[in-house]
Amino acid sequence: MIEFKSVTKTYRDGTTAVHDLSLVIPSDKITVIVGPSGCGKTTTLRMINRMLEPTSGQITWDRNPLRNIRKTQLRREMGYVIQSGGLFPHRTVLENIQTVPHLLGWKKDRSQGRAEELLAMVGLESRLANRYPSQLSGGQQQRVGVARALAADPRVLLMDEPFSAVDPVVRADLHEQFLEIQRQVGKTIVMITHDIDEAIKLGDQIAIMRVGGVLAQVGSPQQLLEEPVDDFVAGFVGKDRGYRGLSFTSASGLPLGSVQLVRDAASARTDAPVLVVDENANPLGWADRTRPGQVQMLGTTFEPDTDTMRMALDSALNSPVGLAVAVAQNGRFAGVVTASQILDQVRHLKASVADAIAARAEADAARVEAEAARKEAESVRQEASRIAADADAEADEAARIEAAIKAAEEKEEQARSAEQAAAAKEAATTPAPTPTVEPEQEWTWDPAAEPKVGRTDAGDAETGDPRPGDSTAGDSNAGDAESHYR
Ligand SMILES: Nc1ncnc2c1ncn2[C@@H]1O[C@H](COP(=O)(O)OP(=O)(O)OP(=O)(O)O)[C@@H](O)[C@H]1O
Ligand SMILES: [Mg+2]
Repeated sequence: MIEFKSVTKTYRDGTTAVHDLSLVIPSDKITVIVGPSGCGKTTTLRMINRMLEPTSGQITWDRNPLRNIRKTQLRREMGYVIQSGGLFPHRTVLENIQTVPHLLGWKKDRSQGRAEELLAMVGLESRLANRYPSQLSGGQQQRVGVARALAADPRVLLMDEPFSAVDPVVRADLHEQFLEIQRQVGKTIVMITHDIDEAIKLGDQIAIMRVGGVLAQVGSPQQLLEEPVDDFVAGFVGKDRGYRGLSFTSASGLPLGSVQLVRDAASARTDAPVLVVDENANPLGWADRTRPGQVQMLGTTFEPDTDTMRMALDSALNSPVGLAVAVAQNGRFAGVVTASQILDQVRHLKASVADAIAARAEADAARVEAEAARKEAESVRQEASRIAADADAEADEAARIEAAIKAAEEKEEQARSAEQAAAAKEAATTPAPTPTVEPEQEWTWDPAAEPKVGRTDAGDAETGDPRPGDSTAGDSNAGDAESHYR
């Protein structure tokens, strides 16, 4: 895995070619960098093998900073296909391919054998081996460039517009070869192109850059087609991206109809389309209605289990009778389907994709809600435990207060007892109070009011007859009190 971490490259003249690029390039996969001219693609690629150093940020290879890896080692382990070929003009094709093995000191036999093997691998005839680059077409030169980059069996392949000089038909061929080579060698490939179709066809991952060296979006071809992040990306992947998107939809769900089959076109007797097949039921073509006995071309067929909707639709659109012909793996006729049936199916699938997206959005929303509820519950729980803790504290406080009150009451009680005891003691040691003599004026004895009973009465009076407020009452009272406290 190669990782760009906030990488910026500003050239000496102040041109920022790459701005704050963060990008993960997975191992053993094809990452395609695509974008308009001057957006920093080549600059990005050249920083991977340290032909250029970032101005800021860091690039790592399997988590190892590139700075710590020697340039010679990088060049050995990273093949580089230079934009517009970049072959040495004074060296032959074979010599060009052997450039790196030669630098690595391989024995001549080994490097020559390897060069010949690679020449075949990129689809060049061996008779071209001793030509000079100027004697090759642009496309052939580019293939030599690819062979040269693969020569020392590098782990990483950096390819700067390797197929740009090739016409579209040859290019389609080269793409197939390229994918086949990748299936065999499984390298980490970073490839640059201007061509979004090429990117979609070859890339496991596509990084779209915009002018100013800014990454616009990175994702699988399907992600870019289905969910472009902005108008720039949407515009770049093209207006017919819906059609391109059919390349990712399997043709396996298509309803297959039947059609009359004949071995001999001459035996076709109806106005309806009649398919001519061989003895193995492999389709050969359509019976020509206007020229009895003749066979019209079949166009392309498709295999529902392995091919895509796009292939099925191409097949229907190319068919002279408007029917796409489905075949089994062994080539036997499997059924037919019209373009409008294919489009219906696509619409249906799109609806289920839309449903799936809506369902996902709903599920996301539910998850968010659940999360909010969980958080709410959590905060309620915290609040509850806070309140419980407060209540505990309050209960403690109440118990503490209760204990204090009790203690105070006991103290008070003791104090009261002590006071009473003290009072009792005081009472015991203090002499009984002198009987109170009522004031004279209140108790008036009027001898004149007394009955005249003789002089003894006066003597009685002198012996001290009890009268109100007499001391005996006081004594006995004092005695009661004393016995009570003792
Ligand atoms: N050595 C340099 N000095 C100054 N500016 C440079 C240098 N090399 C490239 N540039 C500028 O940096 C920007 C990015 O260049 P780069 O070659 O990386 O773009 P590109 O995406 O590969 O373009 P193209 O598709 O045309 O190959 C451009 O504006 C270019 O002019
Ligand atoms: Mg470039």
